[in-house]
Amino acid sequence: MRKKIVAGNWKMNLDYASGISLFSEIVNMVRDEKKGDQIAIICSPYIHLNSLAKLGGEVVKIGAQNCHQNDSGAFTGEISAGMIKSVGCEYVIIGHSERRQYFAESNELLAEKTIKVLENELTPIFCIGETLEERNGNIYFEVLKAQLEQGVFGLSTADFSKIVIAYEPVWAIGTGLTASSEQAQEVHAFIRNEIANKYTAEVAENTTILYGGSCNPKNAAELFAQKDIDGGLIGGASLKSRDFVDIVKAFN
Ligand code: G3P
Repeated sequence: MRKKIVAGNWKMNLDYASGISLFSEIVNMVRDEKKGDQIAIICSPYIHLNSLAKLGGEVVKIGAQNCHQNDSGAFTGEISAGMIKSVGCEYVIIGHSERRQYFAESNELLAEKTIKVLENELTPIFCIGETLEERNGNIYFEVLKAQLEQGVFGLSTADFSKIVIAYEPVWAIGTGLTASSEQAQEVHAFIRNEIANKYTAEVAENTTILYGGSCNPKNAAELFAQKDIDGGLIGGASLKSRDFVDIVKAFN
């Protein structure tokens, strides 16, 4: 079933105490104000995960922002999907453009990570998106298609049915330049069509596809009203409890 999801990505922000305090505010507001079946998720830095899951994981789900592709071993500084699972997380962002750009993560590596996340019964939020150059060069559909084919289209139908896709145009991330609802819908429809071609129309219909990139309380309702947009992956606005919860409530 297609889910309505608003996931906050705190990125590398908030020390331990600030994260706990912001999350407590978000949980209280979501508990009091949310109506409907939408799912709120916070993807925090690793240091917060254990505490957040215990503090309110039944109201606001918890996700990590990355994981390693191996189960364990001599990988200093890394965290495995199994470790993330062990503290009560349910989601892991895979392939965020900042991981692709600053940590040279390839589609092939991200495919391995996605499999590891699924093996540990966590839900991958798999990110794809084109740069400004690729959009202006009018090659964005090819870029997105390659990210899907090499990143997640190797999955079985059963496994693919468990993942969430996030479309985050790189040019809209943290820039204040949101894709217009028409631009976002065009790409979401394209992604759903590619999924239907690779798997089945039913699988495509049931895949949750989130939009990310300068989504805020002012533009969320219009974006979420688009036929193929099932929610958002929120950066900056997830660092303010009021803004984040207003976005959670932006579904019609
Ligand atoms: O993963 C969320 C993201 O990259 C969007 O960030 O700050 O533009 O909402 P922002």
